[in-house]
Amino acid sequence: MKLQLILSFVLTIVCVLAQHENHNHEDQRVNVSVYYESLCPDSRKFFTLQLYPSLQGNLSSFVNLTLVPYGKSKATFDINEWRFECHHGEQECQGNKIQACALKHIDNGLNTPGYGFNKISLAFINCLMDKADKNAKVVFPTKECATYNPVNNLGEIENCANHTSASNYLAMFGKLTDQVQNPLKSVPTIVFNNQYKQADSDLAQTNFVKALCQYIKGEKPAECTRNGGESLKICIGFLSILAVLWNIH
Ligand SMILES: *[C@@H]1O[C@H](CO)[C@@H](O)[C@H](O)[C@H]1NC(C)=O
Ligand SMILES: *[C@@H]1O[C@H](CO)[C@@H](O)[C@H](O)[C@H]1NC(C)=O
Ligand SMILES: *[C@@H]1O[C@H](CO)[C@@H](O)[C@H](O)[C@H]1NC(C)=O
Ligand SMILES: *[C@@H]1O[C@H](CO)[C@@H](O)[C@H](O)[C@H]1NC(C)=O
Repeated sequence: MKLQLILSFVLTIVCVLAQHENHNHEDQRVNVSVYYESLCPDSRKFFTLQLYPSLQGNLSSFVNLTLVPYGKSKATFDINEWRFECHHGEQECQGNKIQACALKHIDNGLNTPGYGFNKISLAFINCLMDKADKNAKVVFPTKECATYNPVNNLGEIENCANHTSASNYLAMFGKLTDQVQNPLKSVPTIVFNNQYKQADSDLAQTNFVKALCQYIKGEKPAECTRNGGESLKICIGFLSILAVLWNIH
């Protein structure tokens, strides 16, 4: 009898502590890095069906996102400027440059306060991934996407995309990509907490939420467990077993 009393007391304390742990997820965001290309069909699917929709809800406060538009491009330094060869042709290089410039120039590359990414940049880039059309006169509908998502310095972004600053940004993204794998085996490649794992990268492409949730510590948001906290359920389970035992005696 006495033992049960002590046991249930201890368990209750442990459960209460477990529930209160990790409620400040600000300093333990999961680093998510996406290595992709502006005209790659699988990258486009990943943005529009996985990454962007997944980050519209509460999961957005658990990630620290890094977008790296480069993929399997090749860079060579020729006399005094960078030249690029892109996986899906010349147009893709232009698309990667526009996105690189957007990442640097929208809000000066700063995250939206309280988020681990810039909401406008992500929405603008998702729109370009969604609406790019290789066969259209305007391959990347920057004006349309900038209107939907209010980008107020599109002129600056396009100017950047047509100048050497874009090449310098792309070359830098190339270096980041080489650090993951050189050459990159598949595009997109998604890396969690700075460590490439093929299984995670593959899973993220069909179920980004599941891949991300593996890395969220402590109490997971509703999107991860659907019915809310797992540890809470386990605790309630244990306590009910104790209550039953208690009654038997
Ligand atoms: C976000 O969290 C709030 C409060 O915890 C919850 O009410 C809401 O349902 C969550 N949204 C989603 C999309 O799960
Ligand atoms: C978020 O990612 C960036 C780029 O990798 C890194 O510099 C920064 O330290 C990260 N922030 C957190 C809180 O992990
Ligand atoms: C600059 O880039 C934009 C889109 O990236 C393009 O429409 C425009 O023609 C370019 N301008 C020049 C002068 O190359
Ligand atoms: C996230 O990335 C930053 C910068 O690279 C690193 O300092 C930090 O430890 C990473 N966080 C995790 C949880 O891996």
